[in-house]
Amino acid sequence: MIQEKYILGIETSCDDTSVALVRKDAFVLAQKTITQDSRHKVFGGVVPEIASRAHAETLMLVIDDLLKDSEISMEMIEALAVTNRPGLLGSLIVGVVTAKTLSQVFQKPLLPVNHLEGHILAPFLWDEKREAPSLPLFPHLVLAVSGGHTSLYLVKELGDYIQLGTTRDDAAGEAFDKFAKMAGLGFPGGAKVDQFAKRGDKNRFPFTITKLSHYGFSFSGIKSAAERRLNEEIIQSHQDLCDLAASYQESIVESLLLQTEKAINDFNPKAFLVTGGVSANSRLRERAKVLAEKKSLPLLIPELRYCTDNASMIALAGWQRLRIDGPSDVLNVSVSSQYLEKDFKIWNS
Ligand code: KG4
Ligand code: ZN
Repeated sequence: MIQEKYILGIETSCDDTSVALVRKDAFVLAQKTITQDSRHKVFGGVVPEIASRAHAETLMLVIDDLLKDSEISMEMIEALAVTNRPGLLGSLIVGVVTAKTLSQVFQKPLLPVNHLEGHILAPFLWDEKREAPSLPLFPHLVLAVSGGHTSLYLVKELGDYIQLGTTRDDAAGEAFDKFAKMAGLGFPGGAKVDQFAKRGDKNRFPFTITKLSHYGFSFSGIKSAAERRLNEEIIQSHQDLCDLAASYQESIVESLLLQTEKAINDFNPKAFLVTGGVSANSRLRERAKVLAEKKSLPLLIPELRYCTDNASMIALAGWQRLRIDGPSDVLNVSVSSQYLEKDFKIWNS
């Protein structure tokens, strides 16, 4: 009998401690994610020092639970994949040191992963509750939107990424989080704005969208405009707040999809993918569907559990890296708060 092999993925780049077991065909056997929301809530944002300490307390315990609960022994682990860039340095170090130790003790290959490659591959993950999505034809267009990134990528083939454009100031998730903090909606911010917006009128407080040439994004203008509105007397009631949240959300989604549509028109991709924490946003999911239908393109968006940071996407990126680069020299694996030059090419008009 051929034994099924898994990559053990480890993700600790920000404030979620996540571990997962993923097969080469993107099937997720198990994933465990421990959020640190309750620890950061009181500060209204992620505190790096608290995040790294919490990862250190939790990570080995969660790995142990994952393996025990899924009855997987280390013999069934093909390799270890760990996010080593970009992210909070202290948090990344906890994941990388743990992965290096396991790799040495159990003599398993180690694959350092670019967090963003994980997000780009997340729409392909499947599990007992979701069927395997069919692979999109190449090239496909990826709108990657999270708390740290907002970019459009053209994927010519798996592993070959061209960044068409990115944000010149805040990431979309950051814009959601800052608004939630200013408006006192609670933490984590993006999900709260989504909830308030469901009860609001998106047309009540229109925002002017910054339109950049090519495929870039900018959210600082609408963030300042929202701050001014919040300081004005007009926002008095709960309904006013819901209306402002809905209008603000709509302008972010509109700006994301405007640039995406431009890229679809110019590059003629064969499929359209939306991924990253903000792809959990209900309005973005709804409008991405409408855009994909208008352009007659297949659309892939991850299940909610694979939108925000998770180790399944890191394990899947690990399979890609094993295929493309082979295992890394364990002692030379280090962490970086930034991307590396080899992570993607930059599109040059
Ligand atoms: O991918 P992710 O977990 O972390 C990064 O790689 O940055 O994304 C986190 C971001 C946060 O900014 C969070 O507010 C946002 O995703 N987010 C949402 C929603 N759920 C999470 N933004 C808008 N609507 C949501 N439902
Ligand atoms: Zn992320």
